[in-house]
Amino acid sequence: MKLGFLEKFLWGGALAANQCEGGYREGGKGLTTVDLCPSGQNRLDVMKGNIAELKINDDEFYPSHEAIDFYHKYKEDIALFAEMGFKCLRISIAWSRIFPNGDEEIPNEEGLKFYDSMFDEMIKHDIEPVVTICHFDTPIGIIEKFGGWKNRKFVDFYLNYCKVIFDRYKGKVRYWMTFNEINMILHLPFLGAGVRFEDGDNKLQVMYQSAHHELVASALATKLAHEIMPDSMVGCMLAAGEFYPYSCNPKDVMEAKRKERENLLFIDVQSRGEYPGYAKRFFRENNIEIVMESGDEEILKGNTVDFIGFSYYSSRCASVDPEVLNGKTSGNAFKSVRNPYLNVSEWGWQIDPEGLRITCNSLHDRYQKPLFIVENGLGANDIVEEDGSINDDYRIQYLRGHIEAMKEAILDGVNIIGYTPWGCIDIVSASTGEMKKRYGFIYVDKDNEGNGTLERRKKKSFEWYKEVIKSNGENLV
Ligand code: BG6
Repeated sequence: MKLGFLEKFLWGGALAANQCEGGYREGGKGLTTVDLCPSGQNRLDVMKGNIAELKINDDEFYPSHEAIDFYHKYKEDIALFAEMGFKCLRISIAWSRIFPNGDEEIPNEEGLKFYDSMFDEMIKHDIEPVVTICHFDTPIGIIEKFGGWKNRKFVDFYLNYCKVIFDRYKGKVRYWMTFNEINMILHLPFLGAGVRFEDGDNKLQVMYQSAHHELVASALATKLAHEIMPDSMVGCMLAAGEFYPYSCNPKDVMEAKRKERENLLFIDVQSRGEYPGYAKRFFRENNIEIVMESGDEEILKGNTVDFIGFSYYSSRCASVDPEVLNGKTSGNAFKSVRNPYLNVSEWGWQIDPEGLRITCNSLHDRYQKPLFIVENGLGANDIVEEDGSINDDYRIQYLRGHIEAMKEAILDGVNIIGYTPWGCIDIVSASTGEMKKRYGFIYVDKDNEGNGTLERRKKKSFEWYKEVIKSNGENLV
């Protein structure tokens, strides 16, 4: 028996409509949460839901509006991915291209045709589409009318959207994920779930009630997908990264477990089908009462996911020591205690390949389901040399370390079915709205202010990743 990556391992890359497509009012598309997130200092406040009015301000710059114009350039970009030998491409469907306001009776045919053509293009190149149904882009129309996911009506809007896309793309798309980084609702509630707060709100109550609606919607979507496409594989998607205790003080160990569970709660429901005991205790002690409809528990129990999709950028660290807590560093949407054993990226995200092996093993031990690493990568400020080359050795080094760690996890017995590094072509950063925080194998000529030709250029990592795929993960030099 050959040890290592599966013969049909899904090597590829990952994108999201809200960060690559642009064309934000083209083809009948309606506005979504991300279209109201400016770059600059107000961005975080909007993403967190501290936003009074749902409108676009003339004096702000909104990077999603044009992004990298994948809306018009997807054919040439997919051809470049094919040249690297991608076996799959993770993209998301922009909900508001299909239902511009979210509550129309009839879907927008132009939006449906756009994704038909995009999937056909992938299939033409033998690239398997992996689709996130909702990646940070809930339609503004229904948020305005019904207040975001805190309203139960969203379950119906979402399912209606799922029914349309499942019926339309069955036969083309087999891999689906219901919500990108579902746990992000706790950190970026507006971006993640269209949630805004009013004075006096018990924010935790609002967030967990909204999350409950997403969890029910996710389970019902899984059911529907299985009915419409019996061979479909439906996954959840977690912003993962093991929490290490900062020290062996049992209090730090418990704190790490508590933080870990804050994230795993969602996946426990999606994969094991019920709220765990620790969640019930947390709800009780924080005046959170999850309002359920009769039948919700059965829905959750009966429709668990087929695989665990997750993003991994870094491990995290937890401590109860106030002095240690002072030394926090940035991370994927929230800050973490700085781990003295790790280096950090230019944006302060800690770099920990071994942590990927640890995270994979933990998720495997807990869920015993196939794992799909649907995001990983290094955001860096690439320099174009005078001769036009981009020598991103730091990115190669980052990815090499993580692929080696993934290989170790596979040897540990973990079933990993695919790996799609994030932003395989440079796209807009979700957290900062910058263009210069680049992840891609392909450079896009555009700066933070929106200037540039949008020309595509291969980086050094392009040829390197091509060889990795060709050798099925054997050649990482
Ligand atoms: C994940 C998201 O949180 O991390 C992506 O799913 C995001 O949308 C990615 O882009 C990287 O984060 P950032 O802030 O560097 O773009």
